[in-house]
Amino acid sequence: KFENLAPTPPMGWNSWNSFECEGVNETVIKEMADAMVDRGLKAAGYEYIVIDDCWQIGRDDDGYIIVDKEKFPSGIKSLADYVHSKGLKFGIYSDAGTKTCAGRPGSKGFEMQDAETYAKWGVDYLKYDWCFTEGQDAIASYTLMRDALYKAGRPIVFSLCEWGENKPWEWGKEVGHLWRTTLDIDMNGRYDGNIWGNLIGWSDLVDMQVGLEKYAGPGHWNDPDMLAVGNNGMPENEARAHFSMWCMLAAPLMAGNDLRTMNATDQHILTHKGLLEVNQDVLGKQGFKIVDLGNFEIWQKPLSNGDIAICFFNRDITSKTYEVDWSKINIKDFSAENVYQIKDLWADEMMGNTSSKLSIEVPSRDVIVYRLSKEKK
Ligand code: GLA
Repeated sequence: KFENLAPTPPMGWNSWNSFECEGVNETVIKEMADAMVDRGLKAAGYEYIVIDDCWQIGRDDDGYIIVDKEKFPSGIKSLADYVHSKGLKFGIYSDAGTKTCAGRPGSKGFEMQDAETYAKWGVDYLKYDWCFTEGQDAIASYTLMRDALYKAGRPIVFSLCEWGENKPWEWGKEVGHLWRTTLDIDMNGRYDGNIWGNLIGWSDLVDMQVGLEKYAGPGHWNDPDMLAVGNNGMPENEARAHFSMWCMLAAPLMAGNDLRTMNATDQHILTHKGLLEVNQDVLGKQGFKIVDLGNFEIWQKPLSNGDIAICFFNRDITSKTYEVDWSKINIKDFSAENVYQIKDLWADEMMGNTSSKLSIEVPSRDVIVYRLSKEKK
C-alpha cells in the first residue's frame, strides 16, 4: 500500500531549520509556497511544503487535535488548499510519543483520530518524530501510525524521525518511505568537527551514511536530515559540497532556508539540473565511498543507462590537486574497455573521456562532480 509514493527521494521545503517553533505561522507557509513557485524550485522538482513542529496546541474533549489559532488562524485545511492551489503538496508533523519535541501534543493514543484528521485536511506527507516516547517500542509505534494512515485511506508519504536510534534502516522499508539516520543537522550551517548539543555538522552526517547504501532504493530512503544550504550564510563552496553529497547519497532534499530572501547563489545550487538528475535518478541507488585519502574522498553513485556519477570531495582547508587515473580508482562496474564521456556538472563542461588521465584541482571544502556516460561503440 502507498508503495509508489516516493519512487525517487522526496523533494520539498520544511519550516524547522529557519523558523523553528517561534517563527512558524500561516503567512510564512503561504509565502514559502509562493516562493517555491516564483524562485524556480517547483519547476526544478521540489513539491512538498512541510510545516514542522508547533502548529498544534491541545486536544478537545473528543481527543481531536486543536490547531494553534494564533499561528494558523485560517486552520490547516485552508492552508493545505492554498498549497495545493499552487500545484504543490502539503506536509505536516507529529510525534509518536505523548508530546512533540517542542512540547506540543503528540499522537500517542490518538493515532487513528490524527490520521483521519490529516486525511480530511488533505495532508500528503507526515514527518513523525520520537520525543517523549519513554518505554515505547519504535517499530510498534511507527507501525501503528502507518496502519492508521492506511486506514484513513489518503496516500501520505510517511517520514520516520527517530534519529537512527533503533536502526530504522533495518526495518523502515516496511513502515515508511524515508527514515532519519542521525540526530539533527546543524541548521546554522556549521561544517564539521563538532557536535553542538544535538546538532551535527553536515560533513559528519556524511560519515554516518557509510554502509547504509544497501538499505536505500526506490520508495524507501535513508534521510541524513534536511538541507542547511542558505542558512546563516553558509559559504558557497560548502553549500555546493553539502548539496552535492546529499545528491550523491540519494537523500531526500528538503530545503530549510527562507526561499523568499534566498540569494542567487543558493538558488542556483538548490535548482541545479545536473545535480538534481543525479539525486532523482530512477535507479535509486545511494552513493558510496570508493577512495578515502583522509581529507580527500571519492564517491560513486550508479545511475540508469550505465551512467556513473563521481564526486571528488575535499574536506581540507587547502585545495587539493589529484591525478585521476580512471582504471585505478576502483569504480564499481567500470571496465577499462568501456570509454566514458565526462561531464563536469557544476562547470557544465565536457572534459574529454576516461581513456586518458586527468589532473584536477578541488578547492578547499568543495567538490567536483562528474557524470560519466558510456560512449557508443
Ligand atoms: C526534532 C527533529 C527536528 C525537528 C524538531 C522539532 O529535533 O529531529 O527535525 O522536527 O524535533 O521540534
